[in-house]
Amino acid sequence: MTEPLIDPFHRAIDYLRVSVTDRCDFRCVYCMSENMTFLPKKELLTLEELDRMCSAFVGLGVQKLRITGGEPLVRRGIMSFFQSMTRHLDSGALRELTLTTNGSQLEKYADDLYAAGVRRINVSMDTADEEKFAAITRWGRLPQVLRGIDAAQRAGLRIKINAVALKGFNEDELISITEWCASRDMDLTWIEVMPMGDIGNEDRLGQYWPLKDLRARLAEHYTVTDIPERTGGPARYVRLEETGQKIGFITPLTHNFCESCNRVRLTCTGELYMCLGQEDMADLRPPLRNHPQDIAPLQDAIRAAIARKPKGHDFDYSRQTVDGKMPRHMSHTGG
Ligand code: GTP
Ligand code: 5AD
Ligand code: SF4
Repeated sequence: MTEPLIDPFHRAIDYLRVSVTDRCDFRCVYCMSENMTFLPKKELLTLEELDRMCSAFVGLGVQKLRITGGEPLVRRGIMSFFQSMTRHLDSGALRELTLTTNGSQLEKYADDLYAAGVRRINVSMDTADEEKFAAITRWGRLPQVLRGIDAAQRAGLRIKINAVALKGFNEDELISITEWCASRDMDLTWIEVMPMGDIGNEDRLGQYWPLKDLRARLAEHYTVTDIPERTGGPARYVRLEETGQKIGFITPLTHNFCESCNRVRLTCTGELYMCLGQEDMADLRPPLRNHPQDIAPLQDAIRAAIARKPKGHDFDYSRQTVDGKMPRHMSHTGG
């Protein structure tokens, strides 16, 4: 048995998020600028290299693998990568193989994802209004995503909707989105907007809707009870007694959850970011490419990187300024 990955703050790292592309078919206004420059395709790890990378982490005790992007399902050939990860589920090494998606390609891929062993997916959707959806995603169209969600549910995938809480944008949909999710038996998680990347005419503070305010608003309509349930991610959950529904809150700003962090992030070029909110990273490409027959140097490099995982992010809006901002876009590290 190999030793589990433990960071300097005694946190066990068993969750790897893998961004398989920085590209996306949407341009959400809080995530990207209208004109993004993406990485040249030749910079990307090949699907075989991604397999080797992920397998090295699984060999070091990673039990949860979340595939992200950009939009992971726009990466060409990505289904073969999911299929190759099935063997780690079959062996019992991996407990969960999942993805975070904008839903645009689900109609095409839902059945294949289920067949590869995916059971639960997170779909990003900030509004259920067609016009607002087109406005916030710039290039996205809601009916396509709704068809994707239908297909995913038909395929047997459990869905969690991720909505970024945006002041003046989806505040008025708090109850209607909640009820829509309840009616379709979907979980819902709200996320506080984080200062990631230059997004053009940026107004993070203006967009910011603290989840403690959202929760208070929810409590005007429902009986809100904290529940201890965890899915291995940063969300903390409540139950709405009237609907029986589970609502998650991801609160990097109002309640820092870094003390229980269990995850690191691999980019599509093979860089390992030890924290979403810090710049330090380890380039795992050299140990991957220089030793094609030997996994040990790669695993040594992974251990060395985990040994310098920082305590947490420094995002802070409390002084009415945006502190702790990252130059990287969310699509670089996949959220
Ligand atoms: P489950 O709990 O398995 O559903 O997943 P998750 O919440 O880990 O994954 P998801 O992709 O739905 O994450 C939602 C968002 O939470 C991400 O896109 C990020 O915006 C945010 N997030 C996830 N992990 C971290 C983290 O370590 N730090 C911060 N600040 N935000 C995070
Ligand atoms: N702050 C918070 N969440 C963000 N996302 C993208 N950019 C940001 C940001 N700046 C969300 C997406 C998706 C997940 C991957 O991250 O909406 O749900
Ligand atoms: Fe694409 Fe997701 Fe960023 Fe929207 S938030 S542009 S869907 S990567």
